[in-house]
Order: sequence, then C-alpha cells, then structure tokens
Amino acid sequence: MALLPIITAPDPRLKQVADPVDRVDDEVRQLMDDMLATMYVAPGIGLAAPQVGALKRVIVVDISRPEEGRPPAPLQMANPEIVEVSDEDITWNEGCLSVPEHYADVVRPAGCRVRYLDREGEIREIKAEGVLAVCLQHEIDHLDGILFIDHVSALKRNMILRKLLKEKKAAEREEKDEAVF
Ligand code: NI
Repeated sequence: MALLPIITAPDPRLKQVADPVDRVDDEVRQLMDDMLATMYVAPGIGLAAPQVGALKRVIVVDISRPEEGRPPAPLQMANPEIVEVSDEDITWNEGCLSVPEHYADVVRPAGCRVRYLDREGEIREIKAEGVLAVCLQHEIDHLDGILFIDHVSALKRNMILRKLLKEKKAAEREEKDEAVF
C-alpha cells in the first residue's frame, strides 16, 4: 500500500468530473487500498479519487475513526450514485482534506441511499443517515468537481480560497528559497 499526495484547493484537478469505472479490477482495488491508507494517515473520514489525482469515480469512507481506537469500518466504492434522498435536511460543519484547516456549515439531505460497486465489483446499496449520509454526499460531490465550499456563500468561499492560495504561494516561495541555498 502506498500513501498518495492529497491535492489541495485551489486546483483545477478538483473541479473536473471523474470517469466511471468500467470494471473493478486489481488496479481499481489498489487505488481503493492506497486511498484508504492515505485517508487513515491524514486523518480523514472520507476521500475521493480526484483528491489524489485519479479522475475515477472511486471513494473510500470510514466514519468509525480507527485512529481514535475504534475498530475500522471501511467502505470502498466504485461508481457510487445517490438513488434517494430524505426530505429532511441536516446542517453539518464540514471540512475536507483538500481544503485544509477550513470548516463551514453545509445543508444537505439528512439521509440518502447510495448504489455502488464494492471491491469485488458486486452491486450494493447502503442507506445512510447522519454523518455517514453527509460524508457520502460530500465524497460523491468530489466526483463531479464539487467541493463543500461550493455549497456556502460566494463571500465565504472566496475568503477561504484566497487564504489557501496565499498559503500555497508562501509554501512555493519557501521551497524555492531552499533550492537556492
Ligand atoms: Ni472532501
């Protein structure tokens, strides 16, 4: 298993629509395993393939937070699709490994049903509510180039993006300085 570098916003690769997986083969399973390992180390509760530069409709989720000592409960999904959402909404203070250190309240359906292919390529469905429903919707959004900050006001979104861009430029400058000296 390999740890993959996580792309952070602003980055055009996070705004692209990912391609469906034709078949869950060893390559896709490897990606799923690498993504899960990367997510646990980060640590995060969900990760989508575009965040590690793979434009494939693959996500991994584990809301059990094994880093807090609870047994892991990983979900590895190819071509996840929301087939039903609840009428009630839920507001969750969301974060994202691609939007480091920033959080915002996002309103989404409180429950959803997701159809997907598991790591054996079998069609499965899961009914989720609460944090799992939020996480699945957040990760599936990534596959369509949507970040949680796209669900908040333009004012808040631009503020976050400006800060991230500033930090990126500062980090680049630091790297350059290191190369010179
Ligand atoms: Ni995210």
